[in-house]
Amino acid sequence: MSKLRILDDLPQVASAAADEFVARAKRAIQHHGRFTVALSGGSTPKTMHTILAERSAKNPKLVDWSRVQILFGDERHVPPDHPDSNYRMANETLLSKVPIPPGNVHRIRCENPDAAKAAEEYDRELVKVFQLKGEDQMPRFDLIFLGMGPDGHTASLFPGTTAVHEFKKRVVANWVPKFNTWRVTFTRPVINQSECVLLMVCGQDKVEPLREVMGQGSPDVYPVKYVQPTHGELIWIVDRAAAGALAQATT
Ligand code: 6PG
Repeated sequence: MSKLRILDDLPQVASAAADEFVARAKRAIQHHGRFTVALSGGSTPKTMHTILAERSAKNPKLVDWSRVQILFGDERHVPPDHPDSNYRMANETLLSKVPIPPGNVHRIRCENPDAAKAAEEYDRELVKVFQLKGEDQMPRFDLIFLGMGPDGHTASLFPGTTAVHEFKKRVVANWVPKFNTWRVTFTRPVINQSECVLLMVCGQDKVEPLREVMGQGSPDVYPVKYVQPTHGELIWIVDRAAAGALAQATT
């Protein structure tokens, strides 16, 4: 089941996404004692993280952080203190501002000079956190946050790259020619196993890919279109700038 919400601007998108985090955390903790969530990289999530941290500081009972397990959908091949690090961004905007036990934060250790080894290590981390049994068992996250690049990539599944068509492994190193760099990323089976995938998409530069993804665009051109949870929810929360003509279609 998928849902498209078009809100006025980034703060509204971020606020709505923060609401989803809180509501789903409550439900998951009540239902099975913990909340497993994968954060997205890039810049859009920063505002949501900040809002979530502020709300949590005002109301310490809002989220039981001791029951939250934080993972990452992808990471740049840089150390955790590098300006490009998704972990660093999440730590600065959220994780350092909430009382989450350090052991509940599972970052992708991309200080490893061998990206493939960093991916293998993260796979072992997934096995541990989700107590996975077989190599083909996919973790079922309660919530995975994703974004979408202007080229239609999501996580680090970039158009024309190998990881887009990886179905066996859960986490892989992916060479991204356009940036001349390695990334470590969840694969589609992990993403599509999630109870819920929530995409936050904002900005004028997302109009074309969003229109194509919601329309007839090919998923090989716009890999985010491969995000189709097999038995979970798909929620798009976008701003008017990214929605373009889609906004008229839905009003
Ligand atoms: C990353 C992200 C990436 C991001 C998109 C959108 O590591 O950069 O995982 O997939 O979500 O590039 O980024 P913005 O939200 O900054 O536009």
